[in-house]
Amino acid sequence: MRTVRFPAASKEYDVIIGTGAVSVLGTEVKKLCPGAVKALIVSETNVAPLYLEKVREEIGKAGIETVDYVFEAGERSKGIEAVAAMWNRMAEAGFTRTDIVVGLGGGVTTDMAGFAAATFLRGINVIQVPTSLLAMVDASIGGKTGIDIAMGKNQVGAFWQPSVVIEDISFLKTLPDEVFTEGMGEVIKHAFIVDPVLLEKLERANGNIRDDEELLEDIVAMNVADKAGVVREDENDNGRRQILNYGHTIGHVIERDSGYTKPHGICVAKGMGIMIDACVRAGTLAASDAERMKDLLKLYKLPVSDDITPEAAVKGAMNDKKKRGGTISVILVNRIGEAEIKKMTPEDFMRFLSK
Ligand SMILES: NC(=O)c1ccc[n+]([C@@H]2O[C@H](COP(=O)([O-])OP(=O)(O)OC[C@H]3O[C@@H](n4cnc5c(N)ncnc54)[C@H](O)[C@@H]3O)[C@@H](O)[C@H]2O)c1
Ligand SMILES: [Zn+2]
Repeated sequence: MRTVRFPAASKEYDVIIGTGAVSVLGTEVKKLCPGAVKALIVSETNVAPLYLEKVREEIGKAGIETVDYVFEAGERSKGIEAVAAMWNRMAEAGFTRTDIVVGLGGGVTTDMAGFAAATFLRGINVIQVPTSLLAMVDASIGGKTGIDIAMGKNQVGAFWQPSVVIEDISFLKTLPDEVFTEGMGEVIKHAFIVDPVLLEKLERANGNIRDDEELLEDIVAMNVADKAGVVREDENDNGRRQILNYGHTIGHVIERDSGYTKPHGICVAKGMGIMIDACVRAGTLAASDAERMKDLLKLYKLPVSDDITPEAAVKGAMNDKKKRGGTISVILVNRIGEAEIKKMTPEDFMRFLSK
């Protein structure tokens, strides 16, 4: 078990990572939220039958009374109705400002639990217990919380940092293979933008990391440290934090154009593959680095291309909430481990993507 300190400017907290990490939940709650007498455990229909009882028991050990809210698993639930139900559940149970929310699940759960906590009584503590690879390395850390609305994903939310994040590696055992693979998209993204050592480790593991809990713990911890390093410099996403969007500018367009039927991590991998090719054509990325990057994606069963046209990619990117003014912030990796934010006009971006 190990701890990575997550140093956001608004709040510093521990991310505790390891097999059996859930066993420290009660002690952590007692230490960090001494005034808490009630906890709302937020989870969903796939995860709750597996881990809710364990989490309830651990929190109970801290002398805290629990209520829970279990929603239907899946992105379709990530809306205001579920969050409103969480607010009501807490109000009915007489929660006060010193009580807490615990998010137990993948990124859908941790995003909503975080948002419910950020908004209930103008903000109460949240503790995240992510259960998917993507939530462990990305969604549950860094303080972005939110929900989807009809006009788009993650359009409403708040920056709200957790008090502690408990990442029990053994929870990953029950994750379906395709969901694990999707999470690898973000893991490899971190390797590309800031972490050549992680890249080498993934190459050496030769695609086999699922069954080695020690290695997984290592990889998850490296990812948490990578994201911490980026967020530390730019918590509110006005500058350098944007490098975490590598592969996402085009990935989001592919995802949206599929009506959200294509998984996020798969679309991001495609977006990275397209950016790699474009950088090679522009002469800014060495062919040998490009080959290594694409081989790594393939090794972890991720795609490296898509048939989206440059026109569709640029048009979609211009509609993205992340674009600023008339330009698009395009994230480039021209050397493994080094990312750059480049502002492009739609015309520049079109030329860059055209073969
Ligand atoms: N806040 C952020 O910074 C941030 C970053 C990246 C992604 N996100 C959000 O995260 C969400 C995607 O996260 P996700 O991929 O974890 O989605 P998810 O929460 O839907 O989980 C994926 C699937 O895995 C299942 N699952 C999760 N843990 C399991 C376990 N241990 N055993 C068995 N099944 C399990 C879930 O039931 C679901 O079917 C999106 O809504 C995205 O917007 C947020
Ligand atoms: Zn992503």
